[in-house]
Amino acid sequence: MTPEVDGGQADSSTTNSVLRVGPLKPSLEETLTATYGAERLPDGAARASFLSEHGGGVRVVVTSGRTGVDAELMDQLPGLGAIVHFGVGYDTTDVDRATELGIGVSNTPDVLTDCVADTAVGLVLDTMRGFTAADRFVRAGRWPVEGNVPLTRKVSGAAVGILGLGRIGSAIAHRLNAFGCRIAYHNRREVAGSPYRYAESPAELAATVDVLIVAAAGGSATRHLVDRDVLESLGPNGFLVNVARGSVVDEAALVELLAAGRLAGAGLDVFAREPQVPAELIEMDNVVLLPHLASGTVETRAAMEALTLENLDTFLRTGDLVTPVVSPAPARRR
Ligand code: GLV
Ligand code: GLV
Repeated sequence: MTPEVDGGQADSSTTNSVLRVGPLKPSLEETLTATYGAERLPDGAARASFLSEHGGGVRVVVTSGRTGVDAELMDQLPGLGAIVHFGVGYDTTDVDRATELGIGVSNTPDVLTDCVADTAVGLVLDTMRGFTAADRFVRAGRWPVEGNVPLTRKVSGAAVGILGLGRIGSAIAHRLNAFGCRIAYHNRREVAGSPYRYAESPAELAATVDVLIVAAAGGSATRHLVDRDVLESLGPNGFLVNVARGSVVDEAALVELLAAGRLAGAGLDVFAREPQVPAELIEMDNVVLLPHLASGTVETRAAMEALTLENLDTFLRTGDLVTPVVSPAPARRR
């Protein structure tokens, strides 16, 4: 993988043609620096001078859903051709603005589908069966003193609702199908040929299931799609699992309804203001809290890294992306 040197650009372009925005996997950062001479966009006061000095030479940004590229930064990078994301989510990048400007956007789909779906199933099992709470019970020495833990809820055969039957949602459905679960889903549009029951709205879906699993993409279109009404429809015997984005769920309403006993429990890998987790949730025994680890296995993170570099390298060589969300416009390919 030899990076193409952009001969048409002035002075600093060769060293700064790849820019890192936000923290990335350390081995990816190392490769970007060693192979592509990528620098990291500084924070704070150093940012403005860095951009006025080097912004014109930046051809590709490598970032993740944690940070992304907003419209303001795009406008400061007039030579930008592509925004390459490590991860499947890109809701922190202004994709509408990128599309307007002809800037390509890529992510790393497919390679993390299995691990995110595995995590969703793990959270269904853990929340409904109370494994993590029972582990705390044993560790606290309560078993010999108090005897049994309270009974939990059966997963096999349960009614499951999937909000967002995309690649990840379908992989979750496939797994829970093997548990004999009855599966329904809601998407903006019904999925043609799907074997699962379609619900017209998130609230209708929530009203008919034991556990609602959020697998919809983040971003403004899905913000608070799971609102108070949906959570109330899920009801005091219903569980919520979220492996998508914290923004999809009205977190304040979730906390309030859990505290009031108007939801049975929740399993959350994502939060509204990561890494902040609402203090009330920390105190609840019927809630499983994970630090956004769904894709975090050695195998999957290596595959995500490889696909990130493949997108970068392909764009620099050909002007195309391997897994585009938005294809670069001809004028941006050079
Ligand atoms: C993780 O949240 C991702 O978007 O890949
Ligand atoms: C993510 O890749 C999805 O389509 O759900």
